[in-house]
Amino acid sequence: MPPPPAARRYRGTPRNLACLARCLRDGELVAVPTETVYGLAANALDARACRKIFSAKGRPANDPLIVHIHALRDLALIAEPNAAALKLAKKFWPGPLTLVLPKKPVVPTVVSAGRRSVAVRMPAHPLFRRLLKLAGVPLAAPSANPFGYVSPTTATHVQQGLGRKIRHILDGGVARIGLESTIVDLRDPRRPRLLRPGAITRAELEHTLGCVVAWRRQAVTKATSAAQLSPGLLARHYSPKTPVVLHQKIVAAHTQPANEAWVFFAKPPGRRGRNVFWLDPQGGLRGAARRLFSTLRRLDDGRFQKIHVELARGAGLADAINDRLQRAAAR
Ligand code: TXA
Ligand code: MG
Repeated sequence: MPPPPAARRYRGTPRNLACLARCLRDGELVAVPTETVYGLAANALDARACRKIFSAKGRPANDPLIVHIHALRDLALIAEPNAAALKLAKKFWPGPLTLVLPKKPVVPTVVSAGRRSVAVRMPAHPLFRRLLKLAGVPLAAPSANPFGYVSPTTATHVQQGLGRKIRHILDGGVARIGLESTIVDLRDPRRPRLLRPGAITRAELEHTLGCVVAWRRQAVTKATSAAQLSPGLLARHYSPKTPVVLHQKIVAAHTQPANEAWVFFAKPPGRRGRNVFWLDPQGGLRGAARRLFSTLRRLDDGRFQKIHVELARGAGLADAINDRLQRAAAR
């Protein structure tokens, strides 16, 4: 049998967007750009369409999807918002924040993986927003990568991972943030819990809510309670094939052997080599977040036996970067 045709890449012209919106309404999958990472979208109200997401990604059926909405008024169609959720939504949407809330019955079981809750986000990427509006339905979308691999931050990454499993990729350039959204469990509004750190920091959430947001940091490195709360938060996730080794600090004189890659956080003074890399020239957190996944992908082409990476220092976005690095390194 001939291999399935390669996915087509679309620029975000009005005509292409109208065509992709029709595909989505017809129950097809479309890979979409978001400000965090690329997503693999389907009509969230169509169980059959959403099942295709799981088979294209090889994703286990117990791992629920995030539902993306165009406007705040769409929230109450799929979830039961509370005052805390509305506070966060008004402050951070559209943006990289996902809220877990009690779900409404219209959301198919396959989307919530049988849970009574649903994860909702209003994305900020202008092309995805236009597509959501044209499609006229909420769109369920996990990251557009084969299950367990590093999330895609460009249309080329999507093509490399899923190019033969899907037919449509909307190209929206390089993802501006580069790490998946912050996820907050707000089922009990008095006891918010951070399920996944992201670009919206715990401190910002606490400031807006005026209360503590719980976070079990160690839970993300071991498959413990957080993984049961949110099965996608398994320890080993976002993993390159090449083993990743983490360091608090890499010493420039120690970047040997040459068949192992050394990724500094900031551009190191002096020593360079074909196995020496950095996440951001100045060591900035935003730049490092944006380049983290593409760097791991680039170094995962078989050239290197190991990928050594320096951890971020500090809290906030540093927590999100280190969370992804710990998952990449988990064996
Ligand atoms: O930035 C993002 O969030 C991207 C873009 C495409 O929006 N999406 C994304 O989706 O990262 P995914 O499926 O790769 O990660 C979603 C996470 C999973 O860990 C899943 O377990 C969790 O959200 N999740 C979804 N619904 C949930 C629920 N009802 N309760 C708890 N966790 C949930
Ligand atoms: Mg994912």
